[in-house]
Order: sequence, then C-alpha cells, then structure tokens
Amino acid sequence: MRIALLAGDGIGPEVIAEARRVLEAMALPELMFEEALVGGAAYKASGHPLPPETLDIARGSDAILFGAVGDPDCDGLERPLRPEQAILGLRKELGLFANLRPAKLFPGLANASALKPEIASRIDLMIVRELNGDVYFGEKGMRTTTSGLREGYDVMSYNEDEVRRIARLGFETARGRRGKLCSIDKANVLETSQLWRDVVNEVAADYPDVELTHMYVDNAAMQLVRDPGQFDTIVTGNLFGDILSDQASMCVGSIGLLPSASLDANGKGLYEPIHGSAPDIAGQGKANPLATILSAAMMLRYSLGQAAAAERIEAAVSSVLDSGARTPDLGGAMTTSQMGDAVLAALT
Ligand code: NAD
Ligand code: IPM
Ligand code: MN
Repeated sequence: MRIALLAGDGIGPEVIAEARRVLEAMALPELMFEEALVGGAAYKASGHPLPPETLDIARGSDAILFGAVGDPDCDGLERPLRPEQAILGLRKELGLFANLRPAKLFPGLANASALKPEIASRIDLMIVRELNGDVYFGEKGMRTTTSGLREGYDVMSYNEDEVRRIARLGFETARGRRGKLCSIDKANVLETSQLWRDVVNEVAADYPDVELTHMYVDNAAMQLVRDPGQFDTIVTGNLFGDILSDQASMCVGSIGLLPSASLDANGKGLYEPIHGSAPDIAGQGKANPLATILSAAMMLRYSLGQAAAAERIEAAVSSVLDSGARTPDLGGAMTTSQMGDAVLAALT
C-alpha cells in the first residue's frame, strides 16, 4: 500500500509528522510512505504549488494523506500559483467529489465546546460536502464595469449529474447512520440551489427509508449552534459545506479535531484535517495533531480496508482526550508532539 504524504505549509508538516508516527506504530504490513512537496513549499522550491511530480505521486498512490496549504507570503501571487490551488487541483484532477466531514463530541470535551455542555453533548453528525463544483470552479475574474469600477466575479453552478452523485452518497451515508438526511441550500434565492433541491427530491424516490428534509443555509448556520443534535447526515454544496464544517468544529471543541475524507467514485481518497496551515501558530509546537491523526484513521477505513486499525486509532484518541490531554486550542499546554506521544501510548 502506497501512501502519498503531502505535508504542505505552516502546521501541515507538524501535524503530518504525528500522524505518520501513529501509522508507523500500528505496524501494518506493507505500508509505504512517499513524500512530496505541495502548496507554498512546492511553489518556493519549483515555481508551482502542484508540480507534476507531486500529482504523479498522488495518482500512483493507494491513498493520500494531506496536511494543509497556505502561506501568507504567497497571498499576492496570481491565483493559479497560490498554494490553495494545489488542494483544489488535487480534488479536481483526481475526481475527489465527495468530502466527508464527521463531527462528534468526544467524551470529556463537552466543556471545550463553544456551546453549553448539554447542547454540545448531543452532536454526532456527518457533513457530506460536494467538492468538484459550485462557485469554486466556475468562471471567475476581474473586469471593469461600464462606469469604470473594478468588479470581481465568480460563477456559481451545478449540473444535475453533479448534484445526483453527491445526493446519492448523502442518502447512502444517512442509510448507514440514523436514516436522516438534511439537504442544505439557498433555493429561496439561487437557481443553482433550486436545481440542487429538485434533484435531491428526485433521488429521494430511491431511498424511501431515509427521512429527507431541506433547510436554507442561513437557518442551518443558526440551527447548528442552537441544537446540533437535530442533524444526522447533511448534504450540501462546496461553499456551504466549507463554511458549515468550520462552524461544526467549534461545536465539538476545536478546528484541530475534525478530520475529513475526500473520495472519488471508486473509493480512492485524500485525507486531511479540515483546518488550514494556521500561520499564526506555525513552528511553535501548538498545533493540535488529532484532526490529522483521525484523518489517517479515516484513510485506513475508507481506502485501505483496515477498519479495525482505524478503530484502534479512534479509541486511542478518545481515551487520551478522556484522560484530560489538551493542546492549547482545547485550553491545555501540551505540545503537538506530546499529544502525538499520548496517542501512541494509548494505542492498545
Ligand atoms: P486555519 O484553519 O489555518 O486557522 C484558523 C484558526 O484556527 C487559526 O487561529 C489557527 O491557529 C487555528 N487552528 C487551525 N488548525 C489548528 C490546529 N490543528 N490546532 C490548533 N489551532 C488550529 O484557517 P485560516 O487562518 O483562515 O487560513 C490559513 C491558511 O490556510 C490560508 O492560507 C488558507 O487559505 C489555508 N487553508 C488551507 C486549507 C487546506 O489546506 N485544506 C484549509 C483551510 C485554510
Ligand atoms: C478546506 C479549505 C479549502 C476549501 C481552501 C484552502 C481551498 O478551506 O479544505 O476547507 O475552501 O475547500
Ligand atoms: Mn475550509
């Protein structure tokens, strides 16, 4: 099994190092790691955030473990050369259209949540976010209006096939959970969302056992903090899913806790924490590595057929949090590598 390790920028290398240590400690037979530069680090070394060698390594691997990209030094570059284009390029080039972002409260963390403990304790949801379309990949640019004003534009669109495949995954995911699917859109204003809603309703005919509801995204943002326990599976577009998943992370205590899987139609996947490169804390040993360690567990489960090993990692994370281990984002003082040590020690 070949794992492409793309650490990236900022805290990316710090959190990937801990996930690698955990994977190595599992002593799984035939796990091989191949490292490659990506993001600002790749741009600085070779002039492109997603060099062809990196893309080749990613394509040739059985799964990709990704840290984060983003570097303030690169924010002024023309858009195709910015670090963020590397993750967008990987998602598009590899057809990774489905992004699974689970958010569940760990034991002992109800007090770390930004919500009241009795509300936080009910969170157990899965966001199924579309990853290959929407305003992210539409025509975009800068132009000048007839009155001489600068104008930026980004076209939002989804075609029905794009909506259908993510809707199916949403229903399948809900079926494997508590049987409830909430589709989140902005159909009261956007044509893109009206098509989204119509197609989700069509697909629903094949899943009579799943209870489908629809919610506007502004209400969803409110409901997520009012009563996140009402959600089981959420299916939504690329932009809304991006925003709602960062919000869900604070409902469980920290953005440093949420993993994700980005899957193609055949189960190949890229696994990454939902957070970014966190330039404000990079290089200080303050990053919480658990989101990346949990992403490695998702990789074992979804791409490598190692569900038992995934559960071992998840149980170790759960037990270290239960025992009070905390990095600064959770109000503690442990360093990134001390948290990695704690997980290693808890692997049974
Ligand atoms: P961010 O997620 O990097 O950071 C937001 C806040 O959360 C910061 O205060 C940061 O210190 C904190 N944080 C994030 N991860 C943490 C962790 N593991 N442990 C403790 N604290 C953590 O988002 P941002 O600041 O908006 O973006 C920074 C850069 O990252 C930008 O260049 C952005 O484009 C990029 N980004 C990349 C990805 C990705 O690679 N998939 C995702 C999001 C943002
Ligand atoms: C994420 C990030 C990315 C996104 C950026 C870095 C392109 O925020 O993975 O959540 O918007 O999808
Ligand atoms: Mn994001």
